[in-house]
Amino acid sequence: MSKREFVEVLWDGERIVCRLPLTSPTGRVRVKRNGHPIPTRQTELRAEDVIEWQIAYRDEEGCPVELGLILRLAKEHGVLSLNDVIALEDFVSAQSSFCDEQFTIATEASGQEFFGFKLHWRKHPLLRREIGDGTVVEIELRHRQRAVGFQAMVFLLIPISQCEPVDIVGRKAKPKEKVAWTPSRKVLETLAKAFAIASRSHRDDMLKLLKALKEG
Ligand code: ADE
Repeated sequence: MSKREFVEVLWDGERIVCRLPLTSPTGRVRVKRNGHPIPTRQTELRAEDVIEWQIAYRDEEGCPVELGLILRLAKEHGVLSLNDVIALEDFVSAQSSFCDEQFTIATEASGQEFFGFKLHWRKHPLLRREIGDGTVVEIELRHRQRAVGFQAMVFLLIPISQCEPVDIVGRKAKPKEKVAWTPSRKVLETLAKAFAIASRSHRDDMLKLLKALKEG
């Protein structure tokens, strides 16, 4: 998956399905073991491996993708009621404190040296929320690339054991293989809240998205 490609999201008649690619480690979807990306074509996958998805909500033209589409389908098919959307909107609009303004990246000296160089550690704030079903939402603060300031990145971590086909656990991924996963209502709500607290501009985007959902 290149930067411009998005995860396919659809309604299969009964539930929302996200089709997550397993074999594009340079894209926004990667498989990790103990926090490190693994080559899925060469590694037998285990139940505890996680798919890390830097989930987007709109494309360059402003059209809904990924979370934007998931929220739309959720509203359309009653996974989220109008009241759920209004409750989310209330949370998002009340938010006035943001990760990229509250936290900073720290550089700390250690006592250690390596061939005359002093070892330092750079610490990035990482906010995590575990959702009962085994998925986790993370917000990580990084320096902006080719710019000044911080960027709060939102990631969704999905245990591979929650994906289909279930036989993916215990074997290597096939060429261009994708697995299917269905987000719970709690996941949707937590993601919308994560963007709302990540930065002011993500909060504003979520608010627009939720307002459009109410009308649509
Ligand atoms: N912009 C769109 N999706 C994002 C994400 N997951 N993290 C940070 N910024 C984003």
